[in-house]
Amino acid sequence: MDLKVLYKLTYGLYVVGAFKDGRAVGCVVNTCFQITNDVPRVAVALNKNNYTLEAVKENKRFSLSIIAEDTDPSVIGRFGFMSSRDTDKYEAFGMEVIDYVPCVKGKFCGRLIAEVEQTVDCSTHVLVIARVVDTVEGNGVPMTYAYYHNVIKGKEPKNAPTYRAEEAEVAAGPKRRFECDVCFYVAETDGSDLPEDFVCPVCGVDRSHFHEID
Ligand SMILES: Cc1cc2nc3c(=O)[nH]c(=O)nc-3n(C[C@H](O)[C@H](O)[C@H](O)COP(=O)(O)O)c2cc1C
Repeated sequence: MDLKVLYKLTYGLYVVGAFKDGRAVGCVVNTCFQITNDVPRVAVALNKNNYTLEAVKENKRFSLSIIAEDTDPSVIGRFGFMSSRDTDKYEAFGMEVIDYVPCVKGKFCGRLIAEVEQTVDCSTHVLVIARVVDTVEGNGVPMTYAYYHNVIKGKEPKNAPTYRAEEAEVAAGPKRRFECDVCFYVAETDGSDLPEDFVCPVCGVDRSHFHEID
């Protein structure tokens, strides 16, 4: 079976926000889709290792912020590659509480507030099925997963259901390649070192977090 065919499934990108023991936590997901319309419901797949799943199960209510093409990409770096277990992910961006759930501040296409109705155990992940109880308008063009990969050159961590193991081992090219140890973004140069003031375009860390690969 050629699992690469799965790469052709399309997705958007979202930030899930929830409270856990009074703290705002959250993570990036791509696996979100609408299920029903009359009573609007969405489903989100969350990895069992993600702290956000514990928060969603505990509070049964979460926000879903729809990432735009021009949302600050360091939101993806922070919410997608770090854990709320040991990081306050909202610190750098600010947070507002809407309908009792935390929402990261910034430019988003819109937000949904959802209440958990049921969860389905899917071995490594849990599918969370939730009723949409409120919406907040935003603006911008929704970022697709393809845009994230092709334009932002972003990757995903192992906890993402769509983690692409093969792509993590890309063939060596004639250029020099440097990988970020936080979000695995790969910067290419035409043979030179990374500039002193280089900053990761995805997660915002400085050059000291990059090491040469290949
Ligand atoms: C592009 C991208 C897509 C992701 N998609 C998912 C997803 O659909 N489900 C999931 O559980 N984790 C996904 N992740 C991984 C989580 O965001 C990541 O493991 C995060 O660090 C979990 O944080 P937490 O421990 O605070 O919950 C994705 C990450 C990225 C960068």
